[in-house]
Amino acid sequence: MTDELLTVVVRKREQHAAGVVALELVDPQGQPLPAFEAGAHIDLHLGDNLIRQYSLCNDPADNSAYRVGVLKDPNSRGGSIAVHERLLEGTELQISAPRNLFPLAATDGRSILVGGGIGVTPMIAMAYALHAAGKPFDLWYCGRSRSSCAFVDDLLNSVFADRVHLHFDDEHDGAGVDLDRVFDDADDSSHMYTCGPAGFMEWVMASATSKGFADERIHKEFFQVEVETGGSSFEVYAEASDITVTVGENQSIAQALTEAGLKVRVSCEQGTCGTCLCDVIEGIPDHRDVFLTDEEKEDNDQMLLCCSRAKSPRLVLDI
Ligand code: FES
Repeated sequence: MTDELLTVVVRKREQHAAGVVALELVDPQGQPLPAFEAGAHIDLHLGDNLIRQYSLCNDPADNSAYRVGVLKDPNSRGGSIAVHERLLEGTELQISAPRNLFPLAATDGRSILVGGGIGVTPMIAMAYALHAAGKPFDLWYCGRSRSSCAFVDDLLNSVFADRVHLHFDDEHDGAGVDLDRVFDDADDSSHMYTCGPAGFMEWVMASATSKGFADERIHKEFFQVEVETGGSSFEVYAEASDITVTVGENQSIAQALTEAGLKVRVSCEQGTCGTCLCDVIEGIPDHRDVFLTDEEKEDNDQMLLCCSRAKSPRLVLDI
């Protein structure tokens, strides 16, 4: 991982279905961009301290450009609106180098990619990578209606079109995709990947579990979650910096430490990306993220500073 930012320019902007724009970002001098793996995302730096993450959805074999799809979220905390309003063709912006928190597993078994709505974006890059590697996979793209889903034509015209399965609820009397069909060809070597609205993902993951998928064969990336915020205030001792702060009732640990002058890296600010992960030396965190697994949460030796709080009156953190 690197903190170095890259300057890119919006070479192409396409309006897709139901409020999604697809942006093609390139180096201003036409140089190749850093290589990326399927499942990777970049941070877009949108000004006014807004940093938002978007999955790369182009072929990972082609690093002449990065492609992202951004849904205009009516509940946007500023990120998607800034993308839609400010990032016109020719606009220069800064981005992070790609980071991958949602990698494909090293397996020759079947990969089952299940994207809900705009959550299909990382699946597109995965499908390119799996197709190029000659590995078996199926991509299921689910949404409420065809008109609300972006990238449908791209998928149907892709080199892996024969592996794409579309399911739009309104074409099935409102019923969701038949998960028995989705997992029909799965066996003990299969891995399942899902990204989409939280309720959709939980439904898909519960089905995978019921069909015998072990946790390590279920891969997920949340892009929008409801984070419970606020609570009683508590004390945090940042041991490496020798600074003590009080985290207020409506403040995050990241905010309290930043106000005290520490540099705390945050990105999603909703406990999904892992950017603000920190080791816990002492005390009991109140985990509120969806990034750590249940087992990792039970260990209580690391936590996310953007959303998690404390069950003990004091935490000692390695920062
Ligand atoms: Fe993404 Fe904290 S900033 S988990």
